Amino acid sequence: MDELHDLQDTRTGSPFELSFILLSQVKELLFRMVHLELDQARGHLRADRAGEACRALARATRTQRVLIACWESMNGMPADEFVRFRDVLGQASGTQSFAYRGLEFAMGNKNPVMVRPPDLRRYPQLRAEFERPSLYDEALRFLDRHGLPLPAATLDRDVTRQYEPDERVERAWQQVYADPAGHPEPYRLAEHLIEVAYQFSHWRAAHLLVVERMLGGKRGTAGTDGARWLREVNEHRFFPELWTARTLL
Ligand code: HEM
Repeated sequence: MDELHDLQDTRTGSPFELSFILLSQVKELLFRMVHLELDQARGHLRADRAGEACRALARATRTQRVLIACWESMNGMPADEFVRFRDVLGQASGTQSFAYRGLEFAMGNKNPVMVRPPDLRRYPQLRAEFERPSLYDEALRFLDRHGLPLPAATLDRDVTRQYEPDERVERAWQQVYADPAGHPEPYRLAEHLIEVAYQFSHWRAAHLLVVERMLGGKRGTAGTDGARWLREVNEHRFFPELWTARTLL
């Protein structure tokens, strides 16, 4: 704990800068915690322990809610106080968080734009996550083993590539929702997965609002056009066919 408390090194001495660092570090650790739960869920699915997988997903969701609640605290900072220390951040940005990127990879977002070879070299755990099947890959393999056969192209796909939605997967989820009693485990899994995806998108949406509140239309420290870039990121959905299958119900 002593070491942990030595890690908040402000450059300006502003209490707002210290709060910003503290919240960023808290969120970073919580990303890791969500990742830990999702990794367990993935392992349980691979071993056909759907009940255990769902319990791990439910734990992940609890932590995701805490992550979202952290924005409440961040919003206590007035925008004029933020701009007073923002310059000392230099080019430091959330885009550099390997914990966040690892979490996105684990859930299945391997957007080639965000897969940066220098990061994969620098963080072996990120590379390992990049090369593993995602939670969604394992969920689809689980469906295939439990009465909802899916195409080989989905099951044996190159897991380092961005996942592309497939109509046959959408139809499988539609079948699950059309007959929950006939597919109790896939149904329970589907509801836990959509909750995890929802909470992730909720986090992104709240981040976008905080960014607009703090920066208006200013550019981000990573060089993006800030809120506009994040608005596009907000369009992405994890486990895409689980969302689109709703249209068919
Ligand atoms: C005043 C508060 C904040 C502002 C104004 C802000 C602003 C931004 C902006 C403009 C971006 C786009 C990339 C860039 O050009 O930098 C970004 C990305 C990001 N931010 Fe924040 N941010 C804030 C707080 C946080 C906090 C507390 C976290 C959590 C540790 C965080 C995590 C991230 C992540 C993970 C990304 C990358 C998103 C992605 O790749 O999809 N941000 N942020």
